[in-house]
Amino acid sequence: MNLRFTVFVFFCCFGLWFEPAQAQAGYKVTEGNKLDPQTYRGYLLYRNWCARCHGTFAQGLAGPNLANSLNQASKEEFMQVLFKGKKGRTGIMPGFQDNPQIVNGREQLYSYLRARADNAIGPVMPEQGPK
Ligand code: HEC
Repeated sequence: MNLRFTVFVFFCCFGLWFEPAQAQAGYKVTEGNKLDPQTYRGYLLYRNWCARCHGTFAQGLAGPNLANSLNQASKEEFMQVLFKGKKGRTGIMPGFQDNPQIVNGREQLYSYLRARADNAIGPVMPEQGPK
């Protein structure tokens, strides 16, 4: 086995390992604030429906900081609260199960908040970037 072949095999394996990791993240951030089109859609949904209570950058306002929340709760728990709402110590989180925009865009919305939770995008206004 020569060196070139070894290097080739190494990069193939690396590619196989790396690709799913990226796909799993569900978002792509370039130049600090450019989101892939799907995640950008999530941002628009967030801006329309959530920002007034959870803050422009999901940092928390009347409702809790959602970046922190995503790092503590599972995706299933997030979807549960998003659909059914929650009445807790902080206040009332409305359920969105009757909102077709949110129901259809839940994955994009989650991607956007995931990017915030992973600190892949800082406290800057997102723009639409490449796929
Ligand atoms: C009218 C204000 C309001 C709006 C609009 C709103 N939320 Fe909330 N949300 C809250 C409050 C208040 C809580 C805290 C409830 C409690 O006391 O546990 C909350 C809690 C949550 C939680 C649970 C967080 C945790 O750590 O327990 C998630 C997830 C969440 N909201 C997501 C969203 C998303 C996504 C949207 C937009 C689709 C949204 N919220 C829109 C007020 C709001």
